[in-house]
Amino acid sequence: MELLKNTVEIGLEKPVKLLHVTDTHLALADDSDNERKHELAKRRNNPDIERYLAEQIDYAKTSCDLLVHTGDLMDFVSHANVERAREILKNEGIFFIAGNHDYSQYVGEAWEDNAYRMNSYMQMGFGLGVPMFFSSREVGGVNIVGIDNSYYRFASWQIWRLKKEAEKGLPIVLAFHDPLFEESLYEYHKERIPEDCTYLVGCDEEHLLSYSEFRAVQQRPDEPTLEMIDYIKSEPLIKLILTGHLHFSFESNITDSLPQFVTGGAYDGIAREVTLV
Ligand SMILES: [Fe+2]
Repeated sequence: MELLKNTVEIGLEKPVKLLHVTDTHLALADDSDNERKHELAKRRNNPDIERYLAEQIDYAKTSCDLLVHTGDLMDFVSHANVERAREILKNEGIFFIAGNHDYSQYVGEAWEDNAYRMNSYMQMGFGLGVPMFFSSREVGGVNIVGIDNSYYRFASWQIWRLKKEAEKGLPIVLAFHDPLFEESLYEYHKERIPEDCTYLVGCDEEHLLSYSEFRAVQQRPDEPTLEMIDYIKSEPLIKLILTGHLHFSFESNITDSLPQFVTGGAYDGIAREVTLV
């Protein structure tokens, strides 16, 4: 396991330690799964995935107050993956919010929107046994709030719910799968993979210009998404954003006082310990 470490000052009397883990991409199939799922599992599974996951869970248990998982626990929806993910999420030391792959039937084979998400959610038997679309948990006087933005958008009900969380008056750490647009992150991604889009939430038209039409339509922010981003930037209780999805690690600031950490893939052994003080 490769452990990144950060300390973020948010004015706590006693430090709180989070282990941020994202993009595990479990890729299992069993007798209840069809041939296509088996083919995906064969192509995408890797024995290191479970080994790293065990190390991460063990480290969080011994050294941190909470493991925060920002999605893509599963690579695709299969009987075996759902069973395994449900077992993992029974661990009360894990806080989870969903990513795009947690609803993916065959990995990038369809237009993924709310109807697609709900179809997978129902098929799983109402999700993975924990809230997938919005969730919050208090730990050591910090409110960890997870929001599913896995299709590059926020919904208006999520803004309402986040404002309700802010009414609690506690410092907030936001956890979601897709990072918010930020210039240096956008540039870094473009340098790494010039021909690709950047998979960031809230790209304006200028920054969408280099995208393919499909990616621009997929990732263009709608009104609630822009409203949510404005709210996140303006709410002083929001102290930190934890995200994944990009499979590389990056740290930058969304505003002068709001850092956003992108953490690399857990399947690759990456985890980030964040000490809040
Ligand atoms: Fe993802």
